[in-house]
Amino acid sequence: MLGPVILAASRSDRMRRLISAAPVTKQVVDRFIPGETVADIVPIIKDLTAKGLELTMDVVGEDITTPEQATAARDAYLALIEHLEQLELGERVEMSVKLSMFGQALEGGHELALANVRPVVEAAAAIGTTVTLDAEDHTTLDSMFAIHEELRKDFPQTGCVIQAYLFRTEADARRLAASGSRVRLVKGAYKEPAEVAYQQKHEIDKAYVRVLRILMEGEGYPMIGSHDPRLIAIAQELAHKAGRKLDEYEFQMLYGIRSDEHLRLAAEGHRMRVYTAYGTDWYGYFMRRLAEKPANLRFFLRSMVSK
Ligand code: FDA
Repeated sequence: MLGPVILAASRSDRMRRLISAAPVTKQVVDRFIPGETVADIVPIIKDLTAKGLELTMDVVGEDITTPEQATAARDAYLALIEHLEQLELGERVEMSVKLSMFGQALEGGHELALANVRPVVEAAAAIGTTVTLDAEDHTTLDSMFAIHEELRKDFPQTGCVIQAYLFRTEADARRLAASGSRVRLVKGAYKEPAEVAYQQKHEIDKAYVRVLRILMEGEGYPMIGSHDPRLIAIAQELAHKAGRKLDEYEFQMLYGIRSDEHLRLAAEGHRMRVYTAYGTDWYGYFMRRLAEKPANLRFFLRSMVSK
């Protein structure tokens, strides 16, 4: 019940101002977004990779309103890539980007987002790694898939995300699996209407398994983005049935969520990539994490009251 309310708040400027300014918020936010600057995040990258984990880095931010902010987003990723070059971790650390942060929703946004994200993908390729395009709300996806296809002409390793809760996703999965893409499958984190998306958890979970089967049996590289133990077990079973070796798919989880499981899967020989977000514009990302688990909201509210 609470999830949709929190997701609606995640798009409210008034709530953004209130929550971002709350004195205790930062310490609660740190659980999911463990730094604000590249300097904060480099020790975390070193620590997690030393533990056998791989990473996908997200500079938090979305729904920007000026072209200058889009350029700043590009530059923030380029600065990160400069630091990564020195760490020489290659594809063990990739990037995740939200095209709305690169200007997708502005006038001429499709072209603007493509123009801003291309240098990031090029710079990533130059240090031996890649970029995955996150999936945002359903109205942005045709543009995201078109940008993905365009980028793949020069950088075939560029990945994208599909969301099990959307009715369209099985068809997207078939197309992407046949073209040999790197595809992260997630349940979906936005508030979507019943015309386009399953609303019930059991329906979303069933759709997740159907799409997972398509990806595992296809020609691409599946990236299983979930913390759900049942789906992780099913993914292992489907990978085995499809004859995939351990390096022919990977698991992905979010920083701060089920961290023991990250290490357990890596110790079993799986590729385990941790989605690690950092930066100052954390509001939207943080609110989606609250919406996914009501206990997070209780913890957050308690921390405000106890201050
Ligand atoms: P589910 O929500 O059923 O959670 C399973 C268990 O995991 C819970 O019981 C709980 O123990 C734990 N858990 C899950 N979320 C938690 C939280 N916030 N706090 C504490 N515990 C939690 N979405 C999207 O729309 N576009 C995208 O691009 C991405 N990208 C992405 C990358 C990666 C690597 C992951 C793991 C997820 C995303 N998502 C996403 C988010 C995704 O759509 C979904 O909202 C979350 O992963 C939660 O769904 P689960 O599959 O984990 O299952």
